[in-house]
Amino acid sequence: MTTIGFIGAGHIGGTLAQLAISHGYDVVVSNSRGPETLTDLVEKLGDRARAGTSAEAAAAGDVVVVTIPTKNVNDVPVEPLTGKVVIDTNNYYPQRDGHIEPLDNESTTVSELLQTHLPASHVVKAFNHIMFSDLATQGAPAGAPDRRALAVAGDSDEARTAVSQLIDELGFDAVDAGPLAEGWRYQRDTAAYVRRYDADGLRAALSQAVRYRDM
Ligand SMILES: NC(=O)c1ccc[n+]([C@@H]2O[C@H](COP(=O)([O-])OP(=O)(O)OC[C@H]3O[C@@H](n4cnc5c(N)ncnc54)[C@H](OP(=O)(O)O)[C@@H]3O)[C@@H](O)[C@H]2O)c1
Repeated sequence: MTTIGFIGAGHIGGTLAQLAISHGYDVVVSNSRGPETLTDLVEKLGDRARAGTSAEAAAAGDVVVVTIPTKNVNDVPVEPLTGKVVIDTNNYYPQRDGHIEPLDNESTTVSELLQTHLPASHVVKAFNHIMFSDLATQGAPAGAPDRRALAVAGDSDEARTAVSQLIDELGFDAVDAGPLAEGWRYQRDTAAYVRRYDADGLRAALSQAVRYRDM
């Protein structure tokens, strides 16, 4: 795997792209307004980065990160993501996203919505529960004491393993939270959300997670 595509190039997309480049990856970044609006970011990221449309970033990525407001997930191109691992960093903020009924009534979760939109892709929920500024600064080599841990959830064992390896390369321990339906355990406002834990601490936070309806 050498190229990571980004649909969304804001706080998380830009930070993750920088981190990936610093670990030897090429990146293709995209946003909603078009590649010509990403010149400054590409210049900052350097030679390993280029900008494209969302469809181009989706096609170019060996793995593709979707990192946009949840209200816009239905804009994500479907066909070029067929068969690919797609990392979903998205969270649901009704004040930003408007009310999305199946998320309000908890009949589904953010990443399952994306998986429904991309039925032939392997969606893995990751990087949603760390602030972009911490993503840039808290990585550490494997084996470092108190290394921060990040969770993965997804329905494909292979995809969870691939994203866990990527997380490890980028400086964090990965904790397997199981299938995508378990992703609610580190959604907004849970104990695991944006707090710093090592792997044991994150496992404990995931196991004690509470649904919104029970908060
Ligand atoms: N900020 C954090 O620390 C953080 C941490 C973890 C997870 N998250 C979650 O990750 C997601 C991204 O957060 P962020 O803070 O990076 O957001 P952001 O800074 O507002 O950036 C959003 C990016 O998504 C792009 N975008 C919006 N609609 C799009 C569409 N329909 N197609 C393609 N690109 C689109 C935007 O491009 P345009 O400007 O051209 O529209 C922009 O590049 C959100 O769901 C957020 O809740 C954020």
